[in-house]
Amino acid sequence: GTESDRSGVADPWDALESEIRTCTACPLHQHRRHVVPGFGDRNAEWLFIGEGPGAEEDAQGLPFVGQAGKLLDQMLRAIDLVRGENVYIANAVKCRPPGNRTPEPGEIAACRPFLLRQIALIRPRIIILLGRSALHALFPSFRGSMASIRGQCLEFQGIPVVVTYHPAYLLRNLPEKAKAWEDLLFAR
Ligand code: URA
Repeated sequence: GTESDRSGVADPWDALESEIRTCTACPLHQHRRHVVPGFGDRNAEWLFIGEGPGAEEDAQGLPFVGQAGKLLDQMLRAIDLVRGENVYIANAVKCRPPGNRTPEPGEIAACRPFLLRQIALIRPRIIILLGRSALHALFPSFRGSMASIRGQCLEFQGIPVVVTYHPAYLLRNLPEKAKAWEDLLFAR
């Protein structure tokens, strides 16, 4: 019952999600079961960006529902956040890379316009980049290490950005968790 319904102008979120669901811009669309556009509060102050869907996410169409997602929920809780409440979770690529390989730079670039539209619609107060793929989605020319860039305040289109480790990396490197927690407290 909104003005835009009556005028026939598509809701920008509906338009964006339907474009994402029908996208064939890169080879990742060929093997997907479900596209994973993102999930959460569309007016969130906090935007978390991961890498891309894994097997569980591809099966359900939702981001971070597997093992890494459980750790992400703990990371959120560590700074008094709850998934979906003032938090939006997106990914650098919206379709699962086969065998959970790292997305190629060209795949991240092909999906980037969708991520930029999500950022423009949400207008978060802070963006948390989880791992290198998310970092490359917003800063494609960055060539340094995660260790050199984590835990500082960067800026993307005027929005503060903090980079930290991806939860799947933390599951393989548990001693690094302390650093990620530090980064999140800094972001908070
Ligand atoms: N890892 C990611 O980067 N994103 C997901 O949605 C799930 C796992």
